[in-house]
Amino acid sequence: MTVLVTGGAGYIGSHTVIELLNDNQEVIVVDNFSNSKPEVLNRIQMITGKQLIFYEKNIEDRMAMDKIFKQHAIDIVIHFAGYKAVGESVTQPLKYYHNNLSGTIVLLEVMQENQVKNIIFSSSATVYGETNRVPFKETMTTGEASNPYGYTKLVLEKILQDLSQSDPDWSVTLLRYFNPLGAHESGLIGEDPQGIPNNLMPYLTQVAIGKRPKLLVFGKDYPTHDGTGVRDYIHVVELAQGHQKAIKHNLEHQGVAIFNLGTGHGYSVLDIIKTFEKANQVTIPYEIIDRRPGDIAIAYADPSKANEELDWEAFKDLYTMCQDSWHWQKKNPDGF
Ligand code: WQD
Repeated sequence: MTVLVTGGAGYIGSHTVIELLNDNQEVIVVDNFSNSKPEVLNRIQMITGKQLIFYEKNIEDRMAMDKIFKQHAIDIVIHFAGYKAVGESVTQPLKYYHNNLSGTIVLLEVMQENQVKNIIFSSSATVYGETNRVPFKETMTTGEASNPYGYTKLVLEKILQDLSQSDPDWSVTLLRYFNPLGAHESGLIGEDPQGIPNNLMPYLTQVAIGKRPKLLVFGKDYPTHDGTGVRDYIHVVELAQGHQKAIKHNLEHQGVAIFNLGTGHGYSVLDIIKTFEKANQVTIPYEIIDRRPGDIAIAYADPSKANEELDWEAFKDLYTMCQDSWHWQKKNPDGF
């Protein structure tokens, strides 16, 4: 089977490509390195010992994309490419709406023209918004987000649903990711944020390695067991494996299927700090400051639908995730 992976050089994309190559799939990666580095492709080949086909292209480049679809017999597309920094999406909404929406629309048009109608889309738990109660279930109403990045995910879910309504030949899988942590066990690939990290774990590992003086903990007055925000942290390798299972499901079904990819367990920011310290024998200096605007108190998944229908489950514990994140950071203090 031939799988086209957009954004395959990114954090979740690269881990997914490894799983696909290990499963002997033919993998074509399209990435413009807007938030990733070419070295990741060498690392993927080191880990798997397998070759992939790579195009350094923007998915908005219709002619280039059309050529790729004409050159290869693509069975399914896994679409990761997109901007993902929540804060930046607030200050530069047009950049986010333009890139994430236009890129995806061009991709879908090219797919349609070339009769490739199977797609797995990287969505996010952010679509559950601020009013739904945990655990989040796929049947809950969406339609609210707290930032433009979140709205791009919501709108793209809607576009894909409308497309499927218009033409029953489409098979669309929407994967709603919770919070990925960890890295490949080799320590050769992992999360490599450009500039100041937005997310908890990359910030924390940069504190651990001495690049930043302390972690800022956003809020201590949430209605949670210790007052800090609670999230569903999932090992990135298990998240990647969810895509393999999703391919099988996608090819066997038509219409739209939505799956949460999470563990079903919630951990607070202080739980993460304590577990990281214990797992890695390091001390993390931190300071508690005000809440970050747009954050909700608690988010975790009901993953039972993916457990049952995809035959997929995430088992790795927080301790292992913290060890693997630190292994990657220590081996690669400056990223790729
Ligand atoms: C986790 C917890 C923070 C940083 C967002 C998007 C989501 C996905 C991942 C992108 C929260 C706290 C964080 C820090 C902290 N998108 N925190 N200090 O906000 O759950 O999800 O990123 O790829 O769609 O919404 O993840 O890692 O930013 O925060 O105290 O320096 O850590 O308040 O409770 P979040 P996060």
